[in-house]
Amino acid sequence: MPETKPIFNRVARYYDTLNTLFSFGIDRLWRRKLAENVSSSTLVLDIATGTAEVALEIARQKVPHVIGLDPSPHMLKLAQKKINSLRLGNRITLIQGLAEDLPFKDGVFDAVTIAFGIRNTIDPLEALCEMKRVLKPGGKIGVLEFAVPQKPFFSPIYMFYIKNILPLIGSIFGRREEYRYLADSIQNFPQRESFSKLMNEAGFKVLQSLELTMGAVIIYIGIKEK
Ligand SMILES: C[S@@+](CC[C@H](N)C(=O)[O-])C[C@H]1O[C@@H](n2cnc3c(N)ncnc32)[C@H](O)[C@@H]1O
Repeated sequence: MPETKPIFNRVARYYDTLNTLFSFGIDRLWRRKLAENVSSSTLVLDIATGTAEVALEIARQKVPHVIGLDPSPHMLKLAQKKINSLRLGNRITLIQGLAEDLPFKDGVFDAVTIAFGIRNTIDPLEALCEMKRVLKPGGKIGVLEFAVPQKPFFSPIYMFYIKNILPLIGSIFGRREEYRYLADSIQNFPQRESFSKLMNEAGFKVLQSLELTMGAVIIYIGIKEK
């Protein structure tokens, strides 16, 4: 597997455009749905924040403060630009860091979110344990991640799309390999019951797993057990 950090530095420039293109614009709705699930919080940590799309959606939900964390300086630079242009610098703070080693004290956040990020961590269980550590008791976790759809008619179409069409369009932007990695990583990552089990192992009670767009994307909602 290629290292994740250089990949995200390389795709940063086209990241938002390609997301919208590949998902036909539905990606915004997925992130909004995740943000709605943490809307009653005061302080939220958005891990693997990338270009801060989720952090911005959370801020739009009137959450007073969001911290966005990501290891990629290129992603963070684009995120900061967006935040400044929307004049949200007083409500969103960006920090460089890794999910597996969060630079925060225990029990400080009301909620943590991670969108299309847990699959890219070096050690997903370690990352989940870290999320639990920085959450207050009873705090919420929201994980948004791709999955392989289970509907018999949709699954083959979707798999053909992500395995063949996505890398083809990616190649126009000189990013074929990066989008081949996406298809492989989606197929190989634990999903549904296996991912819920991983959350349980880290000390979360899974409240809900919400399948969106015919199961191409899942939002797992859990709470930190006291
Ligand atoms: C697919 S992007 C998702 C960005 C954003 N959350 C979104 O919804 O568009 C994945 C992000 O995970 C970050 N990442 C990779 N490895 C990571 C790690 N170990 N810890 C935290 N973030 C990581 C990358 O830098 C990248 O910005």
